[in-house]
Amino acid sequence: MTYQVGYFIGSLSSTSINRTLSRALIRLAPDDLEFTELPIGNLPLYSPDFDADYPPEATALKEAIAASDAILFISPEYNRSIPGALKNAIDWASRPWGQNSFDHMPAAVIGASIGQIGTAVGQQSLRAVLSFCNARQMTAPEAYIHLTPGLIDDDGTVNDESTAAFLTDFMSEFRTHVARVLTVIPRA
Ligand code: FNR
Repeated sequence: MTYQVGYFIGSLSSTSINRTLSRALIRLAPDDLEFTELPIGNLPLYSPDFDADYPPEATALKEAIAASDAILFISPEYNRSIPGALKNAIDWASRPWGQNSFDHMPAAVIGASIGQIGTAVGQQSLRAVLSFCNARQMTAPEAYIHLTPGLIDDDGTVNDESTAAFLTDFMSEFRTHVARVLTVIPRA
């Protein structure tokens, strides 16, 4: 059984350390997880005015989520909360009313920061939103990555043994979580 994992990078930065983290996570993940990025930078700002006629970018996002078995959020913390671009993408995917793409979706949250708190506060905001969206979140382990220079190379090579072990364990636990949720709530 292979699981399709859609992943959000919560940053639009061309030098995103969260994108670097995503490469490490993909390298260290169990072999039976396959990853597809869910792009957020091309989405207009959400308005209910679009509900009757979603633009192609937003329809594509909802279709990509529907094609996923699980969603991984890899995001920075902006001003102790969720980056606006990511929140906008979540809002698009959660609508129109009654067509919430995250309903019962297995999910996990991780993030990297240049600061020592490692996105811990931002993740609480994100988790609250995902709870309302009825996603089935992995609650442990939590993963707050203080990404210091040289810790992870651009290609996702992790240069610290204990960090590599931690991220490997995180992805292994994520796979277990996805399998458990899908046993109880199979994807339609
Ligand atoms: C930040 N940064 C930041 N860091 C943090 O630990 N807590 C925070 O609340 C914030 N707030 C914040 C707001 C805004 C608007 C920016 C641009 C940055 C710093 C942040 O950790 C750093 O820029 C990371 O490099 C962001 O991740 P990406 O974009 O490189 O993936």
